[in-house]
Amino acid sequence: MYTPVQRYLHWLVVALVLIQFATQEPMHAAMVLIDQGTQLSFSGFLVTTLHTLVGASILLLVCYRLVLRRRRPVKPGGSSSGPWLRACALGLHRILYGLLLWMAFSGAAHYYLGWQVAARWHWLGKWVLVSALLVHVTAALWHHFVRKDAVLRQMLRKAPPPDTIGD
Ligand code: HEM
Ligand code: HEM
Repeated sequence: MYTPVQRYLHWLVVALVLIQFATQEPMHAAMVLIDQGTQLSFSGFLVTTLHTLVGASILLLVCYRLVLRRRRPVKPGGSSSGPWLRACALGLHRILYGLLLWMAFSGAAHYYLGWQVAARWHWLGKWVLVSALLVHVTAALWHHFVRKDAVLRQMLRKAPPPDTIGD
């Protein structure tokens, strides 16, 4: 079972990742101007500030979530899942955490250190993250609508019915 803090942090990070995707185009446009040495407009300044601050917040929240997981390990996949499904869920969660860290570090390497190659890493990370999230969300919906177990409910609210409680 996830604690309320773990559930809250999950959905907060989802919202922050959505902001990152919503600001990707103006962020790219702003970076082209920065790389050319052109002065940013006020909206360009706002977008770069938002994207970098939200990225830094995701980095801190992911680190905190990893500490919480270490202190109180969860068994993903719910109690009705077999060992291989659990291993897949755990592996995918690790990949998601790794990708969020990758996005934060590659973005910072491009923005603060001026490494042009890091823009490519950030772009590549974006597509791997999108693919991993597609699998993640599909799996969550499959649990909910096909297997009809408590995996999604345990991430949405406090206590699933006792007969369907995951670990
Ligand atoms: C930016 C989007 C998302 C990211 C980065 C993300 C990331 C994660 C991570 C890292 C975990 C593992 C939590 C832990 O054990 O510490 C997790 C669990 C979970 N997520 Fe997401 N998630 C996202 C969106 C969603 C969405 C849209 C849904 C629902 C449709 C969802 C449903 C779940 C569920 C049900 C779990 C628990 C899975 C289990 O225990 O087996 N996630 N998510
Ligand atoms: C941690 C979560 C983050 C996510 C999910 C994210 C997501 C994205 C995405 C999807 C793009 C568009 C990439 C493309 O199509 O090429 C982008 C661009 C960019 N991001 Fe992030 N970002 C994150 C963190 C950061 C951080 C922490 C920084 C800097 C401190 C940063 C700096 C940039 C820059 C400079 C660009 C423009 C790259 C270009 O020139 O195209 N990002 N980000």
